[in-house]
Amino acid sequence: MIIHSRRRGYPGHGTYRHYTARDEQWSVMGEVTVINGFGREPVYVQGLWVEPDYRRQGIATQLLHAVKGHYARFTLACHPSNTEAQGLYRKLSLKQTEGTGSIMRFTSN
Ligand SMILES: CC(C)(COP(=O)(O)OP(=O)(O)OC[C@H]1O[C@@H](n2cnc3c(N)ncnc32)[C@H](O)[C@@H]1OP(=O)(O)O)[C@@H](O)C(=O)NCCC(=O)NCCS
Repeated sequence: MIIHSRRRGYPGHGTYRHYTARDEQWSVMGEVTVINGFGREPVYVQGLWVEPDYRRQGIATQLLHAVKGHYARFTLACHPSNTEAQGLYRKLSLKQTEGTGSIMRFTSN
């Protein structure tokens, strides 16, 4: 598996970094996006997605490790019904912080 990232700047919106995990045939196995609001941390991690055929193989874990390589502090959110995401975040020792009834929020430290 290869993870590569591309940084994009949007006028008025700071920068985004898109990470893509690909197999040897260059097919996309998973992806995630970091929203970096003008260099402030924590940055926001959004759009974490692993293609169903590739799940439970550590791809999301590796994508988030790649994020960690660029950003010291990041936050993520998920819906309370999303037990897969919560299992992942807890396995990575992310800390649960404030949230609302419809959103759970986690931070890297
Ligand atoms: C959540 C998601 C990104 C996990 O991706 P993944 O590549 O399968 O995750 P990993 O293989 O790195 O899993 C690491 C750990 O997360 C937890 N986990 C992952 N999927 C799980 C599931 N279906 N049920 C329970 N725990 C799960 C486990 O602790 C797992 O470790 P283990 O396999 O050794 O038990 C994937 O299921 C997905 O794309 N879901 C749809 C989109 C989504 O919900 N994104 C989250 C953002 S809100």
